[in-house]
Amino acid sequence: MRKRILTGDRPTGPLHLGHYVGSLKARIDLQKEYDTFVLIADVQALTDNFENPEKVTSNVYEVALDYLSVGIDPSISSIVIQSMIPEIAELTVYYLNLVTVNRLRQNPTVKTETKEKGFGESLPAGFFMYPVSQAADITAFGAECVPVGEEQLPMIEQTRDIVRRFNALYGKVLKEPKALLSPISRLVGTDGKQKMSKSLGNAIYLSDDSETVRKKIMKMYTDPKRIHATDPGRIKGNPVFIYHDAFNTDKDEVNDFKKRYKQGKVGDVEVKESLFNSIELFLKPIRERRNEYKKNKKVVEKILREGTDMGREVASKTLKDVKKAMGIAYW
Ligand code: TRP
Repeated sequence: MRKRILTGDRPTGPLHLGHYVGSLKARIDLQKEYDTFVLIADVQALTDNFENPEKVTSNVYEVALDYLSVGIDPSISSIVIQSMIPEIAELTVYYLNLVTVNRLRQNPTVKTETKEKGFGESLPAGFFMYPVSQAADITAFGAECVPVGEEQLPMIEQTRDIVRRFNALYGKVLKEPKALLSPISRLVGTDGKQKMSKSLGNAIYLSDDSETVRKKIMKMYTDPKRIHATDPGRIKGNPVFIYHDAFNTDKDEVNDFKKRYKQGKVGDVEVKESLFNSIELFLKPIRERRNEYKKNKKVVEKILREGTDMGREVASKTLKDVKKAMGIAYW
């Protein structure tokens, strides 16, 4: 049997370049070698959007379009809608026994998000325990490898804890997953300050048109201390060069820009024009595929249905094994 990969995203908005370098690229590269499941994590997204579920439901189809247009190949990968796999919810209930509230409190990602969202005293229990539900996602598909960005590492650690606890108590049923961290696991936003994210308004989306991309790049933060093109500039931490490294395939050109930038021999505009061209080159085939799929909503729906069916088959087998091991498979 081939090894399995699982990753996913919460469908709360369109996917951006940060998603691409953080984990989409790895999924696309690895889908030929591994059985790949890509989870549209709508249940997880609801844990902080339960008051407006349409924000989540309207993005399920959009994220599916993002996946297909960026290169997830539905003939070899399964795109799965999380809420259509009740086995995940059932596994979550059993796993909750294996985790302490204290352990969950210490999860750095949940801590940060709780603060960002300003939950305070009204922290919903569903949100608080979502790492357990993510452990259910990962183990339901028997994933051995989980390509993720840096902020997801605590989730993989939590999953590994649960797996070890389960296997020690009930017998060796679950696989311990490994995180696969990409070389750029955290892409800075166009503001150069924080990581790229929809809520910070510093993202370039896979679905942005040329004009929008151009505007975003031309407004990009560079080296704040550099006023004139003849001032020597800083490369380190400069988002324009971080993006060049990630998206410009002409490495000689990138090195030449870096050299001239440090010497004050190239202006921001020239460096940005070239970055725009590189990102356009990357986005063009994605836009074309997107338009094709957009014309065929029925095709996308069929891909989602088939992917989800495939996912459900695997998850229900895992649930059966889990229940048997726990001694609650009564008949
Ligand atoms: N927590 C992930 C995110 O916010 C999404 C996710 C849900 C996920 N289930 C997963 C990622 C399983 C990897 C594996 O982006």
